[in-house]
Amino acid sequence: MRILGIESSCDETGVAIYDTERGLLGHRLHSQVDLHAAYGGVVPELASRDHIRRLPVLLRELLEHTGLSLAGIDGIAYTAGPGLAGALLVGSSVAEALGVSLGIPALPVHHLEGHLLSPLLSATPPDFPFVALLVSGGHTQLMRVTGVGGYTLLGETVDDAAGEAFDKTAKLIGLGYPGGPALARLAQAGAPGRFKLPRPMLHSKDFDFSFSGLKTAVLTAVGTPGFCEADKADLAAEFQAAAVEVLVAKSMAALRHTGLKQLVVAGGVGANLALRSALDQAALRRKARVFYPELELCTDNGAMIAFAGALRFMAGERGADADGCFAVRPR
Ligand code: KG4
Ligand code: ZN
Repeated sequence: MRILGIESSCDETGVAIYDTERGLLGHRLHSQVDLHAAYGGVVPELASRDHIRRLPVLLRELLEHTGLSLAGIDGIAYTAGPGLAGALLVGSSVAEALGVSLGIPALPVHHLEGHLLSPLLSATPPDFPFVALLVSGGHTQLMRVTGVGGYTLLGETVDDAAGEAFDKTAKLIGLGYPGGPALARLAQAGAPGRFKLPRPMLHSKDFDFSFSGLKTAVLTAVGTPGFCEADKADLAAEFQAAAVEVLVAKSMAALRHTGLKQLVVAGGVGANLALRSALDQAALRRKARVFYPELELCTDNGAMIAFAGALRFMAGERGADADGCFAVRPR
């Protein structure tokens, strides 16, 4: 089966074709970062309008790149949520309309399932079961994964998501949008330890996280008299160290609890090199292994949606109701 994947949940437009025998045939991605930068964050209306503009162009490029025509597609998978309602509606409408016109099924896919399964697309994929750490702009979760659809939530953030904390902290320090990567870059120039930030819920006996207190502590540090431009790198480094320490400790606790030896890391914050390095070292001590998606597939993309959809198509799922109704689920 050849599955076309469409992602449009937030500020990235992504399309991809996954072949269940040959693997990923190609993917195309357009980031709206430049569009939203002036506003310091994603403007939902602008995001929706840009998805409409970009999708046909990306789709055409993808078909040219893969040498396929739409007639060569057997099914379509699209992100149905969570995400921005208007943005989701663009991808889902295009997918469902294409499905009707081509006479092929269109299948709604959960965005987080796309992230969760994306490391399986890498050259050395993990086997089921594994523990998954999902760290994106909207979610921070630890899960026990036994197969496609076999997800048991072990713990999650009780307030901000890890990526959200990176973004908000970046804003407080005066870095632009998107904040996460900018904060990570600045942290490289600083040293942790000079500022002292909390490690929220580090010793709680569960697998939950909390990041809003960390952000508040950053706000206090920035507002302290005498805080200046030269301090920013050290504060960024301390914030990153605090966030990484908690994420690593809880991930290792989840491995211990489940007795599993494979940890899969997915979502945008999984692109953070300090997190990767700390997880690798901690896992090595436990004789465990950490699996990541290819760096370019860490953040939102169409490939992970095509792949998750392909696995569900293979399992026999087919999508819309008999009456052709479909819906998006922003939350
Ligand atoms: O998975 P994703 O692309 O979108 C969501 O589904 O949320 O994740 C985006 C999040 C943003 O909060 C972004 O700041 C963060 O991932 N991010 C990073 C890095 N790259 C992206 N955070 C820390 N370090 C990075 N290198
Ligand atoms: Zn995402």
